[in-house]
Amino acid sequence: MKKKLIAGNWKMNGSLAANQALVRAVVDGLHGAACQAAVCVPAPYLAQVQALRQGSALELGAQDVSRHEQGAYTGEVSAPMLKEFGVRYAIVGHSERRQYHGETDETVAEKAKAALAHGITPIVCVGETLAEREGGYTEEVVKRQLAAVVHANGPCISEVVVAYEPVWAIGTGRTATPEQAQQVHAVLRAQLRAATTHADRVAILYGGSMNAANAASLLAQPDIDGGLIGGASLKSADFLQIIAAAG
Ligand code: PGA
Repeated sequence: MKKKLIAGNWKMNGSLAANQALVRAVVDGLHGAACQAAVCVPAPYLAQVQALRQGSALELGAQDVSRHEQGAYTGEVSAPMLKEFGVRYAIVGHSERRQYHGETDETVAEKAKAALAHGITPIVCVGETLAEREGGYTEEVVKRQLAAVVHANGPCISEVVVAYEPVWAIGTGRTATPEQAQQVHAVLRAQLRAATTHADRVAILYGGSMNAANAASLLAQPDIDGGLIGGASLKSADFLQIIAAAG
């Protein structure tokens, strides 16, 4: 059985002092963990967290990546740059970037491609809004979002991580039920199966108010291979409890 992956998404949170305390506590608590663990940190802190995680199993992730390699793209950070800091994962297409930065399905697919080209595993986020769920469009939305990434990446799709994050569950304390999440994960798995013979290798994470109390029941679902954790990844005790639940 493949190991589960628990990835923290710090979003735009942290400080040198807070990061030090948090990463040290996570690294200390990680010994013997049966799952894989990562933290996706703001770009200015990559070097700090790279040093703090040295020698531990905690992997480093970024929260975004440019689809370009280099050049006149003010404010962007490229995959080769991330690679220099030991980055293993890059979140792409988080709903906050789709919503506030106008990222389209095609942009997200190009970002995934840029990450893969440099040996960084993209964590491709998909998910419906509340209006889309209530309108009965959940499947259609997540399939469209994933289809763009499949189209741009061909057989390399087996190298990505997918994160199902219903927008209405992010930061709201309102989690999808294990059954609701599993239903969408099964749809995504079927879509991956149609694209690659290695679909079972792809980790499909759930994200959206996952916490120490609800992690175990979500992670028990057959197609939930881990979690993308926002708020609860900022507290070492909570994050470690989720990691323990994934063991
Ligand atoms: P949340 O965020 O756990 O705070 O809901 C998850 C995410 O946005 O990745």
